[in-house]
Parts: sequence; C-alpha cells; structure tokens
Amino acid sequence: MSGRFIAFEGGEGAGKSTQAQLLAEALRARGLEVDVTREPGGTAGAEAIRTLLLDPPGTGWGAQAEALLFAAARADHVARRIKPALASGTWVICDRFVDSSRAYQGGAGKLGDDAITSLHKFGSGGLRPDLTILLEVDEARLARRLAARDGTQSDAIGGRSEEYHRSVADAFRSLASHEPDQFAVVDGNGEPNDVHTRILGAIAGLLKERN
Ligand code: TYD
Repeated sequence: MSGRFIAFEGGEGAGKSTQAQLLAEALRARGLEVDVTREPGGTAGAEAIRTLLLDPPGTGWGAQAEALLFAAARADHVARRIKPALASGTWVICDRFVDSSRAYQGGAGKLGDDAITSLHKFGSGGLRPDLTILLEVDEARLARRLAARDGTQSDAIGGRSEEYHRSVADAFRSLASHEPDQFAVVDGNGEPNDVHTRILGAIAGLLKERN
C-alpha cells in the first residue's frame, strides 16, 4: 500500500518543523516508515534553489520568477523524493508544500491561485497531500517566537512587511475554509506536546484508513 502524504503549513514561527518531527516520531512508534522533508528543498537541486530564493543575488526576484523557482524546486522534490517514497509505502511529512506557494506567491504576492495551480500541474502533476495541517498561532505569540528565533536575521521572504505576512495568513485561512476536506486547521498555541495531541486527532482518519 502506498504511503500517506501530510504537509504542514502556516506562517513563520508557527511551529511546523517541531510538529513535523513530533508527528514523525509518533508514526514511527506505530511501525510506519516516515520521511520528513521540507520546502523549498528536500533534494540537492531543490536545496540549491532554496539558497537562491532565501538569499537572492542582486536585487532579488520578481514575483513571476520567484513563483517559477518555487515550482521548479517542488518539481524536483516531488519527482525524486516524495513520489518514490510514497510508492514504496513510506509516509511523507513535508514542512510546507504547494499551499505555501498559493498563500505567499498567489495570495500575498498577488499572482492569483490559477497561476500557482497551473505551475503545480505542469511541474508536479498537481500532486496534493492527503492532508494539509494548517497551524494557526496568535500574532503576538508568533512575533515573540520569531524575535527569539531569527532576531534581525530573517531571510528574503521572512523579512517582508507585516502587511505581506498578514496577507499570507488571510490567504491560508481562505484556502482552508474553501477546501475543508484538504485542510485540518489546528490551534498552534500552547505547549508543543499539547499541539502534537491536537495533530494526532487531526490525522486519526488517515491512520484508520490504513487499518
Ligand atoms: P523556512 O525557513 O523554511 O520557513 P519558516 O520561516 O516557516 O521556518 O523558509 C521558507 C520561506 O519561504 C518562508 O518565508 C516561506 C517561503 N515560501 C514561499 O514563499 N513559497 C513557498 O512555496 C514555500 C515552500 C515557502
């Protein structure tokens, strides 16, 4: 049986990486093979594109070039890592996936959802996760976490205006409300273990399908 594909989404500092690791441990404890990966990145080529995106040369990328680079990184990641893993029965947990492009480039970057989904169709055959977990964290808590994590050292996208990041958050909420079967919105406030318990609740259906 093929593996399941779970993506974590949300703004910067929402706790996606921590929760991806906690979920992987919980699934491995149930005897599953799990591959934890991230975007942009996850393969040698996609990690090289990540550097171009987060630490861009010269004056940086225009909106279209940026969206194409994310889609190119994703195409390599899907073809060389995600699809083979799923085909071999491995569960894949990805820290960000195409819904980040929809929220950042499509929403906040104003390219629109059709452009991003077309690129995704061309680059990655339109692959969707079985479930996208959207972690929602209060703005004040996010600001504290980010100050502790990044200080003044945020990357080219993380360092964009508050307005841009608010627009990303609105776009994520709108995607989740229009696609309730695709998204599980999980309250990311509180202790990591409490958030983890909520996530286990959200993926219970996927585990059951397997049995
Ligand atoms: P990263 O450090 O991995 O994210 P986080 O700050 O959540 O830990 O940086 C990835 C950055 O790239 C982040 O600002 C979100 C952005 N991004 C996009 O704009 N579009 C995308 O499709 C993806 C995958 C990420």
